[in-house]
Amino acid sequence: MPKDPQLILERLIRDRETFDTNGKRLQVTGAISLLEARHIQDLILENDFRTCLETGVAYGASTVAICSALAALEDRGGTVKHYGVDPCQFQIYGGAAMAALQECGLDHMFELYEGQAHLMLPKLIERGVTVDFAFIDGMHTFDYTLIDLFFCDKLLRPGGIMCVHDMNLPSKKKALRYLMKYRKYVRLESVKKPLSERVGSALKEALKFAPRKSLSCLTTIEPMMTLKKVSSFEPGWDFYARI
Ligand SMILES: C[S@@+](CC[C@H](N)C(=O)[O-])C[C@H]1O[C@@H](n2cnc3c(N)ncnc32)[C@H](O)[C@@H]1O
Repeated sequence: MPKDPQLILERLIRDRETFDTNGKRLQVTGAISLLEARHIQDLILENDFRTCLETGVAYGASTVAICSALAALEDRGGTVKHYGVDPCQFQIYGGAAMAALQECGLDHMFELYEGQAHLMLPKLIERGVTVDFAFIDGMHTFDYTLIDLFFCDKLLRPGGIMCVHDMNLPSKKKALRYLMKYRKYVRLESVKKPLSERVGSALKEALKFAPRKSLSCLTTIEPMMTLKKVSSFEPGWDFYARI
């Protein structure tokens, strides 16, 4: 009997507990918050987004959130699909996301691309896939995030929505400046992190002697940015010569 996805989500995010494919207990780190999970679910449900994509699956908190919203749409009729890209699902996470999806009976709609996003996303483009929703939470450095944004922009249809996690990181902020300047997106309201939590995160970073990250944690009100794609715009080859 499949379990309620919401209970699995709470176990993953609030209790930080999950299991690998052999049933071994694992401690969850680095997942989205419950409020962020709810925000993503609301976006999918309100907009009837039936094809989704994420980079960075890990223990599967975001994956279960996305697939459970898709399951509600599936119940209304029609098909749904979620693509997840991660090089380490079995190497590091013991297939935890796959196990969680199976536990709540959502595995049929999920397809794992096991590999780095810069190698896997072009395969989806080659297959002619377009998505309504993309969640970016893979490798967090500037260069890999920029590549995720570049390819996800190609996969996302106009009118679709992209959420980018960990916007407190300077690398993510820098990569986002590229998207906002050279592509056509508008920012939508997202989940606001209260000042008390931002101060807590800033203190943690300060204790690790990371002053820039600490300041960024303090000043980043929406750690998960939500962006709507206006159109499939790309600047011409001589664009840079004219600015
Ligand atoms: C912060 S975790 C993702 C957390 C997950 N979204 C959640 O909410 O539970 C980052 C993930 O990115 C994956 N990753 C690392 N390098 C990657 C790459 N080049 N392409 C795609 N994913 C990558 C890691 O294996 C890890 O699972």
